[in-house]
Amino acid sequence: MSERYAKITGWGKYVPARVLTNHDLAQMVDTSDEWIVTRTGIRERRIRTENDTTSSMSVAAAQEALKVAGIGPKDLDLIIVATSSPDYLLPSVASQVQDLLGAKCGAFSLVAGCSGWVYALATASQFIASGAYNRVLVVGVEIISFAMDFTDRTTCVLFGDAAAATVIEASNEPGGLLAYELGSDGSGAMFLYVPDGGSNHPLSQQTVDERRQYIRMDGPEVFKFAVRTLASSLKRTIYQAGLAPDDIDLFIPHQANARIIEAAARQMRIPIGKFYMNVERYGNTSAASVPLALVEAIDEGRIQEGDTIALCAFGAGLTWASAVVQMGTGEISAAHSLFSAGRARFLARRTSDLVLDSAQSALLPLYTFLYQRRKKK
Ligand code: UT7
Repeated sequence: MSERYAKITGWGKYVPARVLTNHDLAQMVDTSDEWIVTRTGIRERRIRTENDTTSSMSVAAAQEALKVAGIGPKDLDLIIVATSSPDYLLPSVASQVQDLLGAKCGAFSLVAGCSGWVYALATASQFIASGAYNRVLVVGVEIISFAMDFTDRTTCVLFGDAAAATVIEASNEPGGLLAYELGSDGSGAMFLYVPDGGSNHPLSQQTVDERRQYIRMDGPEVFKFAVRTLASSLKRTIYQAGLAPDDIDLFIPHQANARIIEAAARQMRIPIGKFYMNVERYGNTSAASVPLALVEAIDEGRIQEGDTIALCAFGAGLTWASAVVQMGTGEISAAHSLFSAGRARFLARRTSDLVLDSAQSALLPLYTFLYQRRKKK
């Protein structure tokens, strides 16, 4: 049997019409546009209207993606919906999406916090590589505003609602998903979680009175985890693909905070212009964040046929997930061949990165100390 590759052949997005600006939030909690912009880079986010549900937003994005791929819902072999904010606890929102689309295939939801869509992309690629399926719809969607405490300024300014969908198809031509890394560190679970509403602590009048149905986050702890993880996971995955960071045409990081992305770019010694950002307009849309950025980067002409992109998400779990994808149907990069100039550059860069990574890890406690001291001043 010839090799099978998983390629992204369709993409689409849906964002609610309602815009919530920093100025709007400053009327609701003790915050300011200046604080939010300088600490996060966010200026506005979308919030669901009364007509938006997780399933309806998924379907709107999926219909666009199917159109781009040039296939219909009945051509799909599987649907995976990554979300932490389904319409209901049961059934899985993926089954609602399957029904609303008019698809005739299996469907399941996947929960991995903000890393969900990248996890789902890697999962879809396994069904394709094994030969089980040829066409998988992968959706990242979130109505995260339902879990926001709009009296808590430490969380409500950060998140927004959105959906994005991709069609992943089998191909015998090299390309598509070249490498991925999935990670989890459950010891950090309580840094970003919803205290009540699960089987451990079902909702009651008391939990609602104490606002324990909303997301709680230790921002600085998640920030440190994100800065540690983003650059290192991206680099490991790029090297696993047989490439060096310079071979990547565009980086698509999780859009949680512009400062986290800038720190990763500095650590990787990659110009910030190579990191796509739309956090300013949408904030952190959790599982929709990376696919939404991907769709917008394509729509803005930032990604061309044959380009190699690197994606990385991180979030509740704590989880992280990275992927390297060659877009379109072009040949695999020259850096893959054993004796090319690209290969030599790859080896040189990997060695220098290993040395620099060790130095950076050794200096991290000092950086953290200096950062905390500067904030206290
Ligand atoms: O998908 C992954 C999800 N999460 C993330 O990626 C979030 C990662 N963390 C972050 O992005 C940052 O930690 C935040 C943006 C959440 C916070 O930035 P920070 O520089 O770490 O601020 P901080 O939490 O250390 O708070 C500094 C000060 C505090 O006041 P005091 O104690 O110094 O007086 C906060 O109470 O800023 C205060 N503060 C605010 N002030 C105005 C916190 N939130 C706000 C706010 N407006 N919205």
